[in-house]
Amino acid sequence: MTNFDLELVKIRKVYPGGTVAVEDFDLQVSKGEFISFVGPSGCGKTTTLRMIAGLESITSGELLIRGRNFTHVPTEKRPTSTIFQNYAIFPHMTVRQNIAFGLQVRNVPSDEVKRRVDTIIEKLELGDVADAKESALSGGQKQRLALGRGLVTEPEILLLDEPLGALDANLRKSIQEELKILQRDLGITFVFVTHAQSEALSMGDRVVVMNSGRVEQISAPFELYTRPKSPFVARFIGRNKIIDGQLAEIGAGRATVQTRFGLLSGVPGFDPAAARPGAQALAVVPSEYVGVHRADDPRGDTPLDSVKGTVTAMDRVGQVIYVSVRLDDRLDVRLETYRDKLEGRGIEPGSEVELRWNPERTTIVLDAG
Ligand SMILES: Nc1ncnc2c1ncn2[C@@H]1O[C@H](COP(=O)(O)OP(=O)(O)O)[C@@H](O)[C@H]1O
Ligand SMILES: [Mg+2]
Repeated sequence: MTNFDLELVKIRKVYPGGTVAVEDFDLQVSKGEFISFVGPSGCGKTTTLRMIAGLESITSGELLIRGRNFTHVPTEKRPTSTIFQNYAIFPHMTVRQNIAFGLQVRNVPSDEVKRRVDTIIEKLELGDVADAKESALSGGQKQRLALGRGLVTEPEILLLDEPLGALDANLRKSIQEELKILQRDLGITFVFVTHAQSEALSMGDRVVVMNSGRVEQISAPFELYTRPKSPFVARFIGRNKIIDGQLAEIGAGRATVQTRFGLLSGVPGFDPAAARPGAQALAVVPSEYVGVHRADDPRGDTPLDSVKGTVTAMDRVGQVIYVSVRLDDRLDVRLETYRDKLEGRGIEPGSEVELRWNPERTTIVLDAG
């Protein structure tokens, strides 16, 4: 028996008309995991979610839930529930009736329906609006109602397609937290689709980054943020500084890239056996790890990589300073630091500076395109 709640094996989707929406999608999800899918519009997130839900056929590959093959099982026989961005609430029904609906169509006995609906209403704090219709609900209440409708059937896997997209920023933040707590509390698996990287990173135990129908990387948030494995992820996630060049040396835990600013080193984000010197590569460093220094600032004992540049602007916002540095006519970078770390150190617009970082923080990524 498998320990996985959900497995996608080489899933592929070709729509009638020929659009290849999803290709080679492999994923294994543990019970109770919170998985986020993130990627730009059109990359195949919704299609993948709909294939898991059985709302869209699977062209090839296999879908397993708790080790059982569900590839061609109809949606109503799957232990999944889906919550859509527009919530799909029935406007003529009350909150209570909306939540009960999914149980009634499954012919659940009425006393059981009442018991389960009451539990959901209490858990989601919808008691005050239990007899109200959609038009009387706030954005947050609609969101909770949609969640209640999804949870009342006691799914093993809850699928959420950009469920917070309709909410304003503050409400979104608080519902993100509620959702995360609820998921831990219920212990069921969540697959959560979003196009916002910050949301994917803050919600997911692991994050699946998609691009053009393919999986780019599946990692825990911090790993994804600090160790991107592809040029797409390096640009899409986090705030990375990226310098291109050619692979020079390739070792087990370390690789170097020959760039126009000199040799830079880092941890390989690729299988060393699959790479050869001379290949196009990127040195990728999260901005948070890059310091701005005067060239004559003393260096400590830690060996640092560095590049020289000229400060072109310093923008102060409260205690934060944004420092723009021109490295050459192809590359300008902007770094965020604090006033007290920079002021009084003789760094002003026009100053020659050095950006320095610990090469342990650098990931070397192959740049096939
Ligand atoms: N019903 C459909 N018929 C044909 N093509 C579709 C259909 N739904 C989506 N697509 C196409 O499949 C690709 C992936 O779409 P989708 O899964 O909706 O992406 P996302 O949710 O990441 O924005 C896009 O190119 C989109 O135009
Ligand atoms: Mg979508």
